[in-house]
Amino acid sequence: MAEKITLSVIKADIGGFVGHTNIHPDILHAAKDKLHNAKEQGIIKDFHVLRCGDDLELIMTHTKGCDNEEIHELAWNVFSVGTEIAKELKLYGAGQDLLKDAFSGNVKGMGPGVAEMEFEERKSEPVLVFMADKTSPGAWNLPLYRMFADPFNTAGLVIDPKMIDGYRFRVVDVKDGRAATIETPEETYKLLALIGSTSRYMISAVYRKSDGEIAAVASTQKLSFIAGKYVGKDDPVMVVRCQSGFPAVGEALEPFAFPHLVEGWMRGSHVGPMMPVPFYEANPSRFDGPPRVICAGFQLAQGRLIGPHDMFDDPSFDGTRRLADKVGEYMRRHGPFQPHRLPDEEMEYTTLPEVMKSLEDRFEKI
Ligand code: F6R
Ligand code: MG
Ligand code: MG
Repeated sequence: MAEKITLSVIKADIGGFVGHTNIHPDILHAAKDKLHNAKEQGIIKDFHVLRCGDDLELIMTHTKGCDNEEIHELAWNVFSVGTEIAKELKLYGAGQDLLKDAFSGNVKGMGPGVAEMEFEERKSEPVLVFMADKTSPGAWNLPLYRMFADPFNTAGLVIDPKMIDGYRFRVVDVKDGRAATIETPEETYKLLALIGSTSRYMISAVYRKSDGEIAAVASTQKLSFIAGKYVGKDDPVMVVRCQSGFPAVGEALEPFAFPHLVEGWMRGSHVGPMMPVPFYEANPSRFDGPPRVICAGFQLAQGRLIGPHDMFDDPSFDGTRRLADKVGEYMRRHGPFQPHRLPDEEMEYTTLPEVMKSLEDRFEKI
């Protein structure tokens, strides 16, 4: 049997430049340096360091499996070194996603976001790594549904014999800390009943029904639940395997041609359109947004990451970006009113308890 490869995408916001817009190049250099050393030592097979907005994205391949302590510790150490630089340069929110002082076995629950999958590399293995800023993991629900369950998006569901049986979705209830597996097409409506509620139910993985192969994984960490208080939005990552029995690359990108509304944007407390952009345009600046998504495409070759190809660097997404801008403007005009502002329980910043306290004796029964 061929050796299994693990693809680990681990990310954190360890300090913004300027404000929450971007990352300082010194941090990117330091991260590349550290991972280069780890590759030389044989800890990882290959890596790529990218960034989306103020999030540092570590894309790594190895043969140690998911949730491996050595790999997670490596990522933690990269983030710690980056935090030192961020502190020295007084970057904004230095170390904001590192919620613990010391590493303890697995970065999950410690602040960083994680999407990992282990599989046997096929004859040719195209993978897409999606990375978003100024939003939360619920933002992946709609595109994942469209990729793996909607034949109007994915022609392969109807015409590829390996796909026609459908897919199995792992759905996490982030409020109650539990998960369920739901199958499509049989249970499509039940799946939609859950995942349409994007702040509570989030798709963490998708499997092909015919043989159980892993097809997609997404980070479902919710920083606000981990920390119990506001610590920044949990800007998510996702990995999707493509072609021959999985969605074609173009089918996996197609859902992003619609700039759907997601939670996040300014102060993690607003609704705005998801804008797919090339790497160099992932600098959310207008009202700290609108939310951005980038996609790095790779071909794997015995664990080597051949790429990245900048998947949204395509004029056929220009119209989407223009529409996102229009929708963003429309939402902005609502100012502090819902539905631009999130419902009270979803806001990551709120003065409401203090406002209520100060007005307590002015409220009278009616
Ligand atoms: C959203 C985000 C930013 C900040 C905003 C205020 O996820 O990170 O929109 O919430 O810039 O930041 P503070 O309160 O630190 O001034
Ligand atoms: Mg930030
Ligand atoms: Mg961010």
